[in-house]
Amino acid sequence: MQAPENMRLLFTAGEIRSRLERLAREIASKVKPSERPIAIVVLQGAFIFAADLLRKLPPAFGIEIAFLRCQSYGSGTRSSGRVLLLQDIDPEIDLRGRTVLLLDDILDTGLTMNFLVSHLKRRGAERVRVCVLLHRRRVARPAKSGARKKRLKPEFAAFTIGPDFVVGYGLDYAGKYRHLPMLAAVKLPRSKR
Ligand code: XMP
Repeated sequence: MQAPENMRLLFTAGEIRSRLERLAREIASKVKPSERPIAIVVLQGAFIFAADLLRKLPPAFGIEIAFLRCQSYGSGTRSSGRVLLLQDIDPEIDLRGRTVLLLDDILDTGLTMNFLVSHLKRRGAERVRVCVLLHRRRVARPAKSGARKKRLKPEFAAFTIGPDFVVGYGLDYAGKYRHLPMLAAVKLPRSKR
């Protein structure tokens, strides 16, 4: 399938599939069952990534799966500089002494992941291992200065990307394009960069 006309193809569905095979093997070799791992999926952007990656883990891996919902972008292409936890994981989930495999679509400014790692540690997680589909090489400046402190590095990342705003495979632009099977860069009008 081709990327829409106003976009530039970054990674095809096939490239994503084979990269996730390798990533799943890497995770399975590093995360031990004794850590009682739980995958926490950040909605909405990580839903396709998580569904595909987690199904590639060995059947005996025994990982629990939970979801939370966050927002930092609203409908634009720049971080608002503030993270909102719209919905937390179920209150009965006990994270104490466990490893969280935190799955998100992209680590951009790092604000969301910094916030979530602190949040999950406060909830008792022993260790939070960050896993993202995309790791942005250069930092997109948050709208409010001073919002970004130490930029966190993901332990697992499928792809590293440059400054383009990316859509497809779960990532959206103003609510659209999440369904695209590939990852593509949007050609933004100058005013939105
Ligand atoms: P931060 O800046 O907190 O960003 O690391 C993480 C969240 O921001 C969204 N985001 C994007 N969404 N294309 C998108 O569709 C992008 O290029 C992009 N950059 C950041 C995303 O929701 C992510 O969880």
